[in-house]
This record gives sequence, C-alpha cells and structure tokens, in this order.
Amino acid sequence: MKKPAPSYETQDVREFAEVIRGRRTINLYLHTPIPADLVRDAIEAATWAPNHHVTEPWRFYLFGKETIERCLDLVYEIVLENKDEKKAAFKRQSWSEKPGWLLVTCKRSEDALLQQEDYGACCAAVQNLLLYLWKLGIGSKWTSGPITRDPRLAEIAGYDPDEEFVVGLIWFGYPKVTPEQARKPLDEVLSVLP
Ligand SMILES: Cc1cc2nc3c(=O)[nH]c(=O)nc-3n(C[C@H](O)[C@H](O)[C@H](O)COP(=O)(O)O)c2cc1C
Repeated sequence: MKKPAPSYETQDVREFAEVIRGRRTINLYLHTPIPADLVRDAIEAATWAPNHHVTEPWRFYLFGKETIERCLDLVYEIVLENKDEKKAAFKRQSWSEKPGWLLVTCKRSEDALLQQEDYGACCAAVQNLLLYLWKLGIGSKWTSGPITRDPRLAEIAGYDPDEEFVVGLIWFGYPKVTPEQARKPLDEVLSVLP
C-alpha cells in the first residue's frame, strides 16, 4: 500500500521532488532547437549555488557551431590516437548528434582545501543547471571523459589550463529517449545518529 503523503508535502514540494528524482542523464536527443535565452537563464540560475567564501569559482563556455566542429575533430583525433579510424568516425558521428555544448570549469587554487570547496561549489552549480533545464523539459549529460583533460580542449575553449580545470562538459537538448535509473534504498546510505 502506498505511504500516505506527509502533511508538509504540498503539490509544489511533490513537483519539486519530481524534478530532482526524474532528471536523467540523456544520451539521445531530438534536433529541436533550444532557445538561447533559456540557456543563459539556466546558467545564471546555476551561479546561485552555495560557494564557500563566495569565491564564484565557476566559468562557463557555451559552444557555437564552429567550436563544436573543432571539438568533433578533436574527439576524432583522440580516439584515432588510441584506437582506430572506424571507432574515431563512430564517436565523431555520435557526438555530432549532441545539440547543446557547455563546458564548465573551476578556477584553480593553491590552497588544497579551497580547491576542494570550489570544486564542490562548481558541482552544485552544474546540478542547479541540470535541474533548471530538466524542469523545462531539457535533458543533459555531464561528461568527464578524456577530452575534458586534453590540453587541446583548453586551446579550443580559450582558457588557461594552469588557471582553470574542467568540471564537466555538459551536453543538453530535448530528450529522444529517457532511460530508467534506480537508487539504493535510503537505509543503505543513511545513518541516523542519536
Ligand atoms: C562528475 C560526473 C562525471 C560524469 N562523467 C560521465 C562520463 O564521462 N560518461 C558518462 O557516460 N556519464 C558520466 N556521468 C553521468 C553518470 O554516468 C550518471 O549521472 C549516472 O549514470 C546516473 O544516471 P542519472 O544521471 O540519470 O541519474 C558523470 C556524472 C558526474 C556527476
């Protein structure tokens, strides 16, 4: 039998939780264009993430067609260097189907604790962004694959890798297929202490 709804659970709260739980990493996208203003608003909302000392350590690089083409050439080269031409062409093709590209970086810090906190803040910002997009029906994928650690990506995006490192390359667009996911029961991950 379904658990009765707790008294605090309003319609708004249920819908909010549904956005959080329902967001999925999307691999396959429709070609429907995404309004540019919407993406800017999502990035602006992302910057309201908690960040210790209000360092605002995030930087966002929104890629246009020309930059995406350069990334596709780069991923082709990376796969070719490690595997073969067929695999490289396949990857280039599958990545060319990703409609929106946003690179998120974090400012480097000499202080190890600050660096950790800044990375945490950037991850919170990315989640803000993904949830904002999801609420508007737009799916995304956060990737941290080899391209994100390749110095040639820094050159393409135009940041100094000595000053910033990649938190994630975010693809986004209207989902073609939304996969299923599961999570462990809460009691496996929660310890309630006296
Ligand atoms: C920091 C980070 C890096 C990720 N990098 C990759 C990646 O390189 N490739 C990939 O397929 N998924 C990547 N993901 C997405 C996860 O695979 C995905 O979140 C996980 O499968 C759970 O699915 P869900 O997002 O639909 O809940 C990454 C997620 C995070 C938070």
